Amino acid sequence: MTVDLSTAIRDALLTGDKRSKVMRTRKLVRDWRHGNLPTGFSAAMPDRPEWPVDLQVLPPSQMPKRGKGGSQRNRVALWHSLAHIEFVAIDLALDIVGRFGAQMDHAFITDFLDVAADEAMHFALIERHLGTIGAAYGDLPVHEGLWQAAGDTAHNLAARLAIVPMVLEARGLDVTPATLERVRSQGDGRGAKILQRILDDEIRHVAAGSRHFAKICTKNGQNPQNHWKNLVKTHFRGALKPPFNDSARLAAGLSRESYAALV
Ligand SMILES: [Fe+2]
Ligand SMILES: [Fe+2]
Repeated sequence: MTVDLSTAIRDALLTGDKRSKVMRTRKLVRDWRHGNLPTGFSAAMPDRPEWPVDLQVLPPSQMPKRGKGGSQRNRVALWHSLAHIEFVAIDLALDIVGRFGAQMDHAFITDFLDVAADEAMHFALIERHLGTIGAAYGDLPVHEGLWQAAGDTAHNLAARLAIVPMVLEARGLDVTPATLERVRSQGDGRGAKILQRILDDEIRHVAAGSRHFAKICTKNGQNPQNHWKNLVKTHFRGALKPPFNDSARLAAGLSRESYAALV
């Protein structure tokens, strides 16, 4: 089998160990940027990525409820859930390139490999922070809701972009400022710094999603706002919930009239 971008991506997706997934992701992005990994799509993407073998994965409805106070238990639960979001985000970014890169341009591949590298960094930062409060990724159960969004949109790039960056990652823009405030009020300055960095990066991720979504719509003669609304109605279970972070969403290329119409 020829080694190309898709085979390296497939390898990283099928790596369950948390540190190895981070390292493989960073290496493949670096190799591709330096021209050491040919842009090819010979490998098919797996239906499911590998996660750590001992990770307990529950349906979203069975996840224990998480308190918001500053107790050790609540803090671990918060940072653990953030670690899981970033861990799955690595797979989501890798998968979108490996699965859809062949039908898209160079900018698409660059943008989403940058996202994959960012997510690997976010996970590493959060994992290190979890360590400073005496915990590690894998200590608590996680849910598979985020990856389900990938499965539901595995055959349609426009739908994938409409849901993953433009609904789920955009939701992160809405909720992160309140989390950041809470973490800061608990005297966790380092945690607050990590969340600020993630928030800044995530604006770029949502922007990449909405930019490539608009490009696809333009090519197909579709109105991006209407098409996005239709795809969200078809592929997203649940409603869009205010309050919205309008300024961050605007910076990411999402217009208020499109998402406000879906509340
Ligand atoms: Fe992230
Ligand atoms: Fe992201």
